[in-house]
Amino acid sequence: HPNDWNTRPIVLVGLMGVGKSTVGRRLAARLRLPFVDADQAIEQAAGMSISDIFDRFGEAHFRDGERRVIARLIDGQRKVIATGGGAFVQPDTRALILDQALAVWLNAEPHVLAERVKRRDTRPLLRGRDALSTLSELAEARNRFYRLAPLHVTSYDAPHDVTVDAILEAMK
Ligand code: S3P
Repeated sequence: HPNDWNTRPIVLVGLMGVGKSTVGRRLAARLRLPFVDADQAIEQAAGMSISDIFDRFGEAHFRDGERRVIARLIDGQRKVIATGGGAFVQPDTRALILDQALAVWLNAEPHVLAERVKRRDTRPLLRGRDALSTLSELAEARNRFYRLAPLHVTSYDAPHDVTVDAILEAMK
């Protein structure tokens, strides 16, 4: 581990539905650190939902705002940040996270993700599409980037607290 590892913000990356926000919030509580959800920060900054940003301005515009918001959230303070599933796939955003934070890839099989995304239908990339096949395609396209994170934690079908324990173990 680089010696400043324990002072860096922890940034959770991985596909939609893997539990970045829930796991991130609980991880932050266990470490007594602040938690920030980057997608929520983007919605606040834009004054509209992510679906509306995609619909009105397109994905490229969303990615641009996403990068700026994540750059602002990585401010030298130790905290836990959950990112949207596409953030770490963008070269500039990924470079920023790798350079200044500790990236943790939360990984799960597409069928586990598909089950979990059913609970919320606000994701523009899944709208009107079959969740399992879309998530399988995204895993195929994106796992090579997520793999670049220095820490990998697989959540299988485990409850989120088990995943939090696995992250804490991987960080030791
Ligand atoms: C996206 C994931 C979403 C959100 C946007 C795009 C993606 O975040 O940022 O809908 O490209 O995978 P979650 O991973 O929190 O669902």
